[in-house]
Amino acid sequence: MRIMTEKNLRDAFAGESMAHMKYLIYSNVAEKEGLPNVAKLFKAIAYAELVHARNHLKELGGIKDSVANLQDAIDGETYEVEEMYPAFKVVAELQQEKGAVRSTHYALEAEKIHADMYGQAKKTVMEKKIDIELGTIYVCEVCGWTHEGDLPEKCPICSAPQSQIRAF
Ligand SMILES: [Fe+2]
Ligand SMILES: [Fe+2]
Repeated sequence: MRIMTEKNLRDAFAGESMAHMKYLIYSNVAEKEGLPNVAKLFKAIAYAELVHARNHLKELGGIKDSVANLQDAIDGETYEVEEMYPAFKVVAELQQEKGAVRSTHYALEAEKIHADMYGQAKKTVMEKKIDIELGTIYVCEVCGWTHEGDLPEKCPICSAPQSQIRAF
């Protein structure tokens, strides 16, 4: 692919991905405001943006089989854990941006778990050529803490109560 087209598709993928995420978040806001049709509109258009993002990513050659996709996910999470979030957090601390310190800390802690879970999944799929065994996954609605296994009394990262931990 020509360099400029590739760059444009990367930018388009990033933009559509952000729109998808924002619309899902806006959909939740509308739901809480008692506006179910606004929520529905955001949700449907979020899906359309996912379709656009997927089409761009496909053209970029970024969609492979699950072993390769898991490795890509491991690489992304590891970069966030080892470089991106530690650096972002230091800057936020330096600039005394309390909210940003908190949001980067939450992400940093959760991404460590994500990298690990993806790593274990990749090992199983690659070596045994079978699907992974997976129980209920819990995700904290406040900080994104992610866990498979027993549900503790409180989120170990942010101390949110069980009522704020979602099961998948
Ligand atoms: Fe993650
Ligand atoms: Fe949490």
